[in-house]
Amino acid sequence: MTNTLRTRVAIVGAGPAGLLLSHLLAASGIESVVIDSRTRDEIESTIRAGILEHGTVRVLDESGASDRVLTSGHRHDGIELRFEGEGHRIDFPSLTGRSVWLYPQHEVLKDLIAARLAGGQDLRFGVTAERIEDAETARPRVVASDADGTSLEIEADFVVGADGSRSIARAAVTGSSTGGYFREYPFAWFGILCEAPPSSEELIYSNSPNGFALISQRSATVQRMYFQCDPGADPHAPSEAELWDALQSRVPGTTLKEGRIFQRDVLRFRSFVAHELRRGRVALIGDAAHTVPPTGAKGMNLAIADVLLLEKALRALLEDGDERAIDAFPEKALRRIWKAQHFSWWMTSMLHVAPDASDFDRRRQVGELRSVVESEAGRTYLAEAYTGWPFED
Ligand code: PHB
Repeated sequence: MTNTLRTRVAIVGAGPAGLLLSHLLAASGIESVVIDSRTRDEIESTIRAGILEHGTVRVLDESGASDRVLTSGHRHDGIELRFEGEGHRIDFPSLTGRSVWLYPQHEVLKDLIAARLAGGQDLRFGVTAERIEDAETARPRVVASDADGTSLEIEADFVVGADGSRSIARAAVTGSSTGGYFREYPFAWFGILCEAPPSSEELIYSNSPNGFALISQRSATVQRMYFQCDPGADPHAPSEAELWDALQSRVPGTTLKEGRIFQRDVLRFRSFVAHELRRGRVALIGDAAHTVPPTGAKGMNLAIADVLLLEKALRALLEDGDERAIDAFPEKALRRIWKAQHFSWWMTSMLHVAPDASDFDRRRQVGELRSVVESEAGRTYLAEAYTGWPFED
């Protein structure tokens, strides 16, 4: 048996991109259906990064999608770059007039899911998309199955692939599930969550001879920290004492406040941009379109920027039959995507120690860090990119 559903916009993936798109479309009176293979609980409990750009916060707040971001999130007016045992603060407001917010992605997801359901919108968990058909017609379709294996076909005026880095929607746009520009890195992050007071009020991005570490926060009692590790590292192998040694040795000059480690994971690093972002009436946004290493804190923010462009283009297409904005969508989105790719690669390469780094490479890297922190132009470039470039009209 196959159930068939008809909607205006079928959205594959209930991550930040898919949910926000659905929310903004609803505000313009355009109906959509969002499906995701995961359960609501899985989506709301997966630990992801936590920095929101100034513009991302504005969109979430003004659209009514996440009214908790300003009350439960924490404004951060700077970060510290630490190298050779010394911290150098990058002060965002004085350099750019902007700040960022620390508000974890799963909290954004909780807010967006609650907003979608409160609005009586069609949001289906446990529904797995198998493929997208008829991309180049006016009636593209998502072929899916629900948790009991019942087939579901969603016919729409437009289909959006917002289904993350292992996107199944991508094949309908690029011709293969892997088609894209791609880079891997010879290191990963070992991430922990621990029960401890903050070791620092602001994030510390630390370069040390032993490799990179990031000291981030979650609350007054829970902290998030990462250190550079081998991509094949087993998250369960090190003891708690070994983890604290690894972290502490990568932030010389700061004494970390230790506490029980209750969550650990290894995050692989990739840079990826799909060869195409749109074919006919199917488009890709968020991690389905691009992946960045987490050092620049750009992942979710870039997804939100895609949504803003696509939502406008879909409104013009579906309300007025005007194709100009959807035709221009890939090129416009790619301008920001490649800037964010560069920034994420640059922060990553400047702060991590490659396994094959020579003495020359190490000294050159410290020279690079020094030329950033000792120059107002250098600090401003970093602050502009980190707090987020203005959104395109
Ligand atoms: C985090 O708090 O999880 C976090 C913050 C900044 C990053 C990456 C992760 O660049």
